[in-house]
Amino acid sequence: MSSVQEKIQSLRAELELYNYNYYVLSSPTVSDKEFDDKLKELQELEELHPEYYDPYSPTQRVGSDISKEFTQVEHQYPMLSLGNTYSEEDVKDFYERTAKSLNEPFEIVAELKYDGLSISLIYENGKLIRAVTRGDGIRGDDVTTNVKTIRSIPLRLHGNNFPEKFEIRGEILLPWSEFDRLNREREEQEEPLFANPRNAASGTLKQQNPAIVASRHLDAYLYYVLGEELPSDTHYGNLEAARQWGFKIPDVIRICHSLQDVYDYIAYWDEARKNLQVATDGIVLKVNSLRQQKNLGFTSKSPRWAIAYKFQAERAVTRLNSVSFQVGRTGTVTPVANLEPVLLAGTVVKRASLHNADIIEKLDLHIGDNVFVEKGGEIIPKIVGVDFDSRGILVGEKVRFVNKCPECGTELVRTEGEAAFYCPNENGCPPQIKGKIEHFVTRRAMDINIGPETVEDLYEAGFVKNVADLYELRITDLLSLERWAEKSARNLMESLRKSLNVPFERVLFALGIRYVGETVAKRLARAFQSMEKLEQATFEELVSVDEIGERIARSVIDYFTEPRNKELVSRLKKYGLQMSLPEDALQGQSEVLKGLVFVISGTFSKHSRDEYKEMIERYGGKNTGSVSGKTNFILAGENMGPSKLEKATKLGVKIINEEEFLRMIEERV
Ligand code: IVH
Repeated sequence: MSSVQEKIQSLRAELELYNYNYYVLSSPTVSDKEFDDKLKELQELEELHPEYYDPYSPTQRVGSDISKEFTQVEHQYPMLSLGNTYSEEDVKDFYERTAKSLNEPFEIVAELKYDGLSISLIYENGKLIRAVTRGDGIRGDDVTTNVKTIRSIPLRLHGNNFPEKFEIRGEILLPWSEFDRLNREREEQEEPLFANPRNAASGTLKQQNPAIVASRHLDAYLYYVLGEELPSDTHYGNLEAARQWGFKIPDVIRICHSLQDVYDYIAYWDEARKNLQVATDGIVLKVNSLRQQKNLGFTSKSPRWAIAYKFQAERAVTRLNSVSFQVGRTGTVTPVANLEPVLLAGTVVKRASLHNADIIEKLDLHIGDNVFVEKGGEIIPKIVGVDFDSRGILVGEKVRFVNKCPECGTELVRTEGEAAFYCPNENGCPPQIKGKIEHFVTRRAMDINIGPETVEDLYEAGFVKNVADLYELRITDLLSLERWAEKSARNLMESLRKSLNVPFERVLFALGIRYVGETVAKRLARAFQSMEKLEQATFEELVSVDEIGERIARSVIDYFTEPRNKELVSRLKKYGLQMSLPEDALQGQSEVLKGLVFVISGTFSKHSRDEYKEMIERYGGKNTGSVSGKTNFILAGENMGPSKLEKATKLGVKIINEEEFLRMIEERV
């Protein structure tokens, strides 16, 4: 090894240790200056010697300013949520239910419930290889580059006593002190403030620029280890092991042997949590033994072996100054209470949600009333009651829900059985028009590179009145607007050109048809295969599609009955947007794998693991995570997991390689 290489390696090891002492153990061993000097020295050496590049080097935590789009990744184990309880009575029910189901002694691990953003970290051979957000529980965003900037997350594990492959889950948090600092900074720069640390953490992690993420000093507490070869058969044991590997495992977790132990834990932390550096909103109780967890199993939404107890939300009293009515993208009108600013659970509250007309009516609100404001888990606090005793004779007008749209004056309507009023003037009401365009351009829809301000400018200038107008924009139009330079105008043109390749299902989602979200759009695209067929679909045909109900079907029909929408879609067709599934996807609709259950294991050379998963589904097969009696085939690559191999052999499940699989579906590369 050259002396430069040795120097680089020793600096890396030293810095990682400093990081660990500082961020995990909270006991710094060197001064900030010393740390910064060493980091700088390492950065310079790495720049001079790119041949020693290492993605796990401490310098990678600083974050480069290269923007990075997030790709979506499927979770190996779905990320479920927990059942919530709010009273000691509910906790007792959980405890007794567990005792009854298990019918043997058990232990409960009590932990704090951290109020941040859940994250899944995948380690292979002791290295962090991927960090994925919860997303919809099945798929999340790959945020590895951003997560690497969080210093309390080890990029390389300590020792060598860890499984070859495992997942660890926890919460990404923005400590209160950082949250306050960030909001002070934003106030100075007249930027909108973050409502709470969870919001700020989530906004930060979704930043496209890792250097900004690094500057915000996020932290991560881990609370759940998953995998096939875990060191212990208890939850607690695995967390203790993970602590040895270098993770920040909260040291407030306790093993409870009785219901009383659980109550004591709750009583203590309900008060003590106010002194913690991070936000918590409850307690999590988990059955300790993994065998018992397995016996208890899961419902479709959450594990039966765990439960969350939510602390009572904090309350404040303040004056209701006025109520405004906001009109959203789909015309839904939301009432918002403007309050005299009040401090509530650590943040200043100025606005609160009033939800809908029924709630306003039930509260019997008057302007000038003193109202009770509560902050539960939700981002926007809500008004839960009126302090009638403090209402004097000078109280203002009774708050009534508007019956005309505050933006365009159209009479509001309410769909049978729904609480919300909406403005039906979808093509003439400014916030709806702008909202539709904003939705159309978002990343998950057409991914056109403009934000709400540009949409506003283009609308105000009269250039864009609907989404089809975007494709008729000219560079000269843009240059006639303030703040537009040649380069940004060309970028927008390029982005519009690129959007012509966006697949049909996303085009369908982008149209913003009421109730047609991403998943529904995917289903409809697969079922009808082209816009033309979808436009002609009858109500019966629509509801016969899996998971498409009457409400969605009616909304789709209504959309395509409106002449203005028809014209819009036909213009989009003319401009060249994708209006059908590509040929290969249509071919792939064959069902050669129908009824067959696959497990994928190992690494592959011809296609990625995700591509194989997609192929299995496309050809009608089913893909599962673990080998069981129901498994028909194991699609095995290099280094197949030993436990899967053992199980497959025992159960006599057929193991096939990539070539054999591709031959099954006759798709060659
Ligand atoms: S365990 C299958 N433990 O609360 C069990 N979750 O609704 C997985 N959370 O999505 C979760 N602190 O983001 C667990 N000590 C803790 C937690 C915790 C916070 C979050 C987590 C989860 C949500 C549950």
